[in-house]
Amino acid sequence: MAAVTLKSVSKHFGGSAVVHDVNLEIPDKEFVVMVGPSGCGKTTTLRMIAGLEDVTDGEIYIGDRLVNDVPPKDRDIAMVFQNYALYPHMTVYANMAFALKRRNVSREATDQRVRSAASMLGVQDLLERTPKALSGGQRQRVAVGRAIVREPEVFLMDEPLSNLDAKLRVQMRSELSKLHNRLQTTMIFVTHDQTEAMTMGDRIVVMKDGRVQQVGTPLDIYKHPDNIFVAGFIGSPAMNFFKGTLEESAGRRVVRAGAFLLPLPSSWPGRDRLGAWTDREVVLGLRPEDIDDAEAHPECAPECCLEAAIDVVEMMGNEAFLHGSIGGQGLVARVESETTARDGTRHRLGFNLRKAHLFDPSSSAAIR
Ligand SMILES: Nc1ncnc2c1ncn2[C@@H]1O[C@H](COP(=O)(O)OP(=O)(O)OP(=O)(O)O)[C@@H](O)[C@H]1O
Ligand SMILES: [Mg+2]
Repeated sequence: MAAVTLKSVSKHFGGSAVVHDVNLEIPDKEFVVMVGPSGCGKTTTLRMIAGLEDVTDGEIYIGDRLVNDVPPKDRDIAMVFQNYALYPHMTVYANMAFALKRRNVSREATDQRVRSAASMLGVQDLLERTPKALSGGQRQRVAVGRAIVREPEVFLMDEPLSNLDAKLRVQMRSELSKLHNRLQTTMIFVTHDQTEAMTMGDRIVVMKDGRVQQVGTPLDIYKHPDNIFVAGFIGSPAMNFFKGTLEESAGRRVVRAGAFLLPLPSSWPGRDRLGAWTDREVVLGLRPEDIDDAEAHPECAPECCLEAAIDVVEMMGNEAFLHGSIGGQGLVARVESETTARDGTRHRLGFNLRKAHLFDPSSSAAIR
């Protein structure tokens, strides 16, 4: 078990920089999820930690050992790859035992580790089968098992659930979380799926274009996104954004978004610090769950209720998403499935502006 530390790590391929100045401190035993869109540098970062890719600049530590020049086999790391492949002609047992054989682990110790990992993963009855006789989920578990038997200090997992159907993904997600609780090993898990990140990580690292955008617990990132990218990337359906100007009149602060006004309530957390933003352009962010049917909220102040044009009602069963717009700015509201809103009609929506986020449109940083 070990901590992993990245200090100003960068990676260039030829002339192009794909990872920029990444600083991360991952304490021992933590489950960290790196999330970001395709091409943002997640795999490259993992491969640098594993030693499969040189670091162009910066330092990587495992525990307190600088590992920049330590070959992968001496880093005590096991990686489950994005496109993992089992050896097709070997049994599950032989697949799992392979790395130990190469490391001259005794036959008894190998047997004990393989059987213990197999039962932990629920594949103990499949040890004599070859991969082609396994389901996708079982293969995935064997790939994870191959990493577990090595008893590494650090696990790196690169989108290990990407080949599974939706139901199996959910199941494997909770199995991996349980596995982490049992093994108590540092894990770095990569995904482009924000739901996976929210549900699995002790902490989330959000990346974009090779740069870390924000690091925090899932709830912290959800509630206090540092910039427009993080705000829009984490959460589904995504946060709504309204462009407008912050105005102050008679002691009230409002965002004038073209034809409509969004008043910031006196309880808005950062209200006292908004002075410098008066008469400047801002972006107001509001999550779909903070826009509801006005009729469900008789307590909602009249100025927080606005009429929207509803294009599509997306019925989920337990709730409904209303896709529409106000004054030409698109929005999604998350309402109860009993809503009376219908496609192509106008509908009154209540805005819970206590939950509003404000952003600087030029830097995209949160205004707090
Ligand atoms: N060996 C390489 N040579 C040149 N460019 C590379 C190389 N490997 C990766 N890249 C580039 O580096 C960038 C980051 O790639 P990386 O594989 O780290 O992304 P990723 O975040 O893992 O994406 P995905 O979610 O699609 O797996 C991409 O633009 C990719 O094209
Ligand atoms: Mg990748």
